[in-house]
Amino acid sequence: MDTIIQIKDASVNYQSDDQIVRGVSAINLDIHRGEFVAILGRNGSGKSTLAKLLNASLVPDTGEVIVDGMLTSNEDHSFNIRSKVGLVFQNPDNQMVATIIEDDLAFGPENLGIERDEIRKRVDWVLSVVGMTEHRLRTTQKLSGGQKQRVAIAAVLAMSPEVLILDEATAMLDPRGRAEVMDTARKLNKEKKMTVILITHYMDETVDVDRIVVLNNGSIVANDTPLNVFKETAIIKSAGLEFPHATEVALKLNEAGLNVPIVLTDIELAEAVCQL
Ligand SMILES: Nc1ncnc2c1ncn2[C@@H]1O[C@H](COP(=O)(O)OP(=O)(O)OP(=O)(O)O)[C@@H](O)[C@H]1O
Ligand SMILES: [Mg+2]
Repeated sequence: MDTIIQIKDASVNYQSDDQIVRGVSAINLDIHRGEFVAILGRNGSGKSTLAKLLNASLVPDTGEVIVDGMLTSNEDHSFNIRSKVGLVFQNPDNQMVATIIEDDLAFGPENLGIERDEIRKRVDWVLSVVGMTEHRLRTTQKLSGGQKQRVAIAAVLAMSPEVLILDEATAMLDPRGRAEVMDTARKLNKEKKMTVILITHYMDETVDVDRIVVLNNGSIVANDTPLNVFKETAIIKSAGLEFPHATEVALKLNEAGLNVPIVLTDIELAEAVCQL
């Protein structure tokens, strides 16, 4: 498979007051081109540290990270790597630079030195991708949380990244806003073959991803398909995670003595129950 990002034995420690705090430890992970990968783990397990390693916002203390052949520790590559790997954080307010939406979206490409015509095309395209075309002349402050987050995603997309990382980008949104962002991410992955890395606390958002990586205390404790990962109930529990809704019900039915296979979605659950 075609690897776009490779993490080799990477560790990050933070210095906090007098203490050394583990960010991530001895991480080995390959991300393949076009993949949709979810990263899960409880608060403080190292997810954001890992996300920052992937786009050279952070360089590992030991080990290395290679993005499309470029070592992230080589500062000559930082700019290229950051335009290749776009990172959207939890709080959209910290990510806006201009007052008017379309100016905000043009800012990144302008910094990349892209021509005006191309910028205009990109701004039109990203506005339509996130469903915000009619709002292009509005000010960013007056938007709802979901709209702001979609503008933040659009701003990253305007840089034309090959990899999109959403670091709990849906955490502050209502269910509808979350669904909008997830639909956008799925569409980019399917239609544009964009590599997507989704960091989330919502297990139900991960049931149809290609691969789930679970972090616990800075280490990878699972790295497999959603079904294989959620079947490892002991690992999921010790990592402080929950199960997707349908999986939780299937597990409870098993505990109650019913022989139901482990499933991920409500439809699969309904089918399994019908066959009892
Ligand atoms: N700048 C920093 N200075 C000191 N410690 C840090 C810093 N950033 C992260 N840490 C610590 O490193 C560990 C991993 O943090 P990280 O933010 O990567 O976790 P996370 O999985 O993203 O957590 P959350 O779910 O809360 O976003 C935590 O113990 C955290 O307190
Ligand atoms: Mg985080």
